[in-house]
Amino acid sequence: MAQARGQFSSKLGFILAAAGSAVGLGNLVAFPVMASKNGGAAFLIIYLLFVAFICYPVMMAEIAMGRRAKRNPVGAFDTISGGSAKWRLTGMLAIITPFMIAVFYTVITVWLVVYLKELASGGLDRLSQEQTFGEIVAAPSLFGYAIFLLVGVFLILLGGVKGGIERLARVLMPTLAIMLVALTMFVLTLDGASAGIAYYLVPDFTKMSLSTVNGALSQAFFSLSLGMGILITYGSYFSREDSIPGSARTVAVMDTGIAFFAGLLILPAIFAFDPNTNTDDLSTSSVGLIFSFLPKIFLSMQAAVGYLGATIVAIVFFLLVFFAALTSLVSIIEIPISYWIDEFNMSRRKAVLTQAALLTLFAIPATLSFGMSDFFTAFTSYGGLSKSFFDVVYDVFYETILPLVGFTVCLFTAYRWKMSGLTSELIIGDDNYEGSLLQRYLNFALGTIIPLVLFSVFVSTVIQIYL
Ligand code: PFF
Repeated sequence: MAQARGQFSSKLGFILAAAGSAVGLGNLVAFPVMASKNGGAAFLIIYLLFVAFICYPVMMAEIAMGRRAKRNPVGAFDTISGGSAKWRLTGMLAIITPFMIAVFYTVITVWLVVYLKELASGGLDRLSQEQTFGEIVAAPSLFGYAIFLLVGVFLILLGGVKGGIERLARVLMPTLAIMLVALTMFVLTLDGASAGIAYYLVPDFTKMSLSTVNGALSQAFFSLSLGMGILITYGSYFSREDSIPGSARTVAVMDTGIAFFAGLLILPAIFAFDPNTNTDDLSTSSVGLIFSFLPKIFLSMQAAVGYLGATIVAIVFFLLVFFAALTSLVSIIEIPISYWIDEFNMSRRKAVLTQAALLTLFAIPATLSFGMSDFFTAFTSYGGLSKSFFDVVYDVFYETILPLVGFTVCLFTAYRWKMSGLTSELIIGDDNYEGSLLQRYLNFALGTIIPLVLFSVFVSTVIQIYL
């Protein structure tokens, strides 16, 4: 605690860093596919309602907790509760969750590095063959790429909040936006693209079901990087001069806007490849879609733009995904780092080294989970399926636990910190909050319907995955 805390240089710095965290594989791939499978514009409407009425309030609560306590998630639960051991323990969930998410996210980001290297050496046709993905994820050479990536990531984190995280987001976020727009414009010129737009945007209410609603909420929640301790920690680096409601709104709009835009890229590209595509057949898994399916689509563009042209399009796309993944990865690793700094009084340097060692330790079995080691590949089984070590980490910490962490944030804010406490933080830097409709909504919903909805999503996910 004796350490000087890092701080973002401005409101824009915070917004770009938080958007850097929020924009990830979820936006670029999972969202478009989910939307098209679940009724197009009908899904979009539900998604937007969830973002506005459930996620936005939780975002504000997380940022406010961090800014009030000026600590990592455990420290924030601890300080604001006045040292309650029970709440401190609850805060541990918001440290362990990002710690473990970083493990599998590292593995996926390493695959992206391998794909980029393969594309740069002219291997688009190899990547589009069925067996290639399986070969790549089981190759021991992955460890070399992992070292390369992790050295880069931890050097960025060594640069601190302003010089590392914020600087990265300031460069990569605008670049990402430009690349996304350019690529979308190109894809929209392809024959057949309009069928994809129709599939994406024409509402089809017959495809909506309870599981659609559940899926929309989970997607919105993780897309905004909620329940991962990230916004609590970033809130602790946020200036008291600036408005939390305003900044959170901008981040939510940017994240949702990029997800929406990604749909205008992915679906027309898929339909240009095969006009008879039935999106029910597309995998919901972002991983399968990015690494196995999309290279085929890029290769098919060689008829229109030649092999080199198709390779360039693929490189731009994979760079885009890599940038999105890198800013998310950096954000998530910062959470345990802030914990080491605050709670163990470590220097940033020592905290970064500690976290690098721990992450490496866990990333090894996750990397071995795809055939290199039988033990980690067939690690356990539940829900009638065999699961690797990677699958377990993914299922537990990504698919299941986020709404539960969100639920604890709501209960903590509403019943321990109390709404008056939250309001007293939200009015700092925001003259309009007090007495606003937003304040009235939060006062009503944060201790009632929002935790109720989050808990139901948690329970139904548990039933779906593990039973
Ligand atoms: N918000 C990210 C997305 O939509 O893909 C999710 C995410 C994953 C954020 C992993 C951070 C992270 F480390």
